[in-house]
Amino acid sequence: MKRLEGKVALVTGAGSGFGLGIVEKFAAEGAKVAIVDIKEDAAKAAAGRIGAAAIGLAADVSKAADVKDAVKKTLDAFGRLDIVVNNAGISHRNRPMLEVDEAEFDRIFAVNVKSIYLFAQAAVPVMRQGGGGVFINVGSTAGIRPRPGLTWYNGTKGAVHTLTKSMAVELAPDRIRVCALAPVAGETPLLATFMGEDTPQKREQFINSIPLGRFSKPEDIANAALYLASDEASMITGVVLEVDGGRCI
Ligand SMILES: NC(=O)c1ccc[n+]([C@@H]2O[C@H](COP(=O)([O-])OP(=O)(O)OC[C@H]3O[C@@H](n4cnc5c(N)ncnc54)[C@H](O)[C@@H]3O)[C@@H](O)[C@H]2O)c1
Repeated sequence: MKRLEGKVALVTGAGSGFGLGIVEKFAAEGAKVAIVDIKEDAAKAAAGRIGAAAIGLAADVSKAADVKDAVKKTLDAFGRLDIVVNNAGISHRNRPMLEVDEAEFDRIFAVNVKSIYLFAQAAVPVMRQGGGGVFINVGSTAGIRPRPGLTWYNGTKGAVHTLTKSMAVELAPDRIRVCALAPVAGETPLLATFMGEDTPQKREQFINSIPLGRFSKPEDIANAALYLASDEASMITGVVLEVDGGRCI
């Protein structure tokens, strides 16, 4: 028996990086997956590689109409929705906090935080009707042990962690579990943004702050998401699981 047999998952930002790793893992474990990304080509290409168990959907997770539409299309395609992974996220480039302008600040909060509100609005009623569900919100070690130069991004991830715990207690009576993942710096296209510049020296500096001595990989995040999404974690809610090689100790 595969670990997500019979489940339907919607994963945002799944055209690339951690989200792509998550949908590949979920599909291999028997789930039907809706791959949601602002980059339609990336979402459709990923769905094409996975096959009939996947659909690729274009949506901006900061826009209510797009989020509603993505949930509706997932229900139209697969008939139910058990798991939502709020993974799509962006950051300002690593730089002094006063150099990030208001428009960029607003955009980062809209994509990283407001999206969780919008997916709650769209998916909680569906999960209630289905008798339960799971949200996994992708936070970050940035929300636990902030690095300089990423102040406003760090703040979004603190919000993700607090929202996760608050949603968990409020939705527990509905058998809806809500957990977060807190990855350490990972080998994805976002890494250069976090480091400010992608040089061997910067990479060494970041890796030196991770006791296990390497960056995280999409597969690490996918394995943790798989556990939290599966029935093996049926007594677990409100956790912020660090996938960080010891960075936050
Ligand atoms: N890579 C890291 O070092 C790291 C560490 C900790 C946490 N995270 C978090 O992990 C998550 C995934 O990041 P990643 O590293 O895989 O980055 P990534 O850039 O590889 O992937 C993010 C995906 O989200 C999509 N996206 C961006 N804005 C969107 C929007 N408005 N609507 C829909 N899709 C949108 C992008 O097109 C991209 O495909 C983010 O929430 C990020 O903050 C990343």
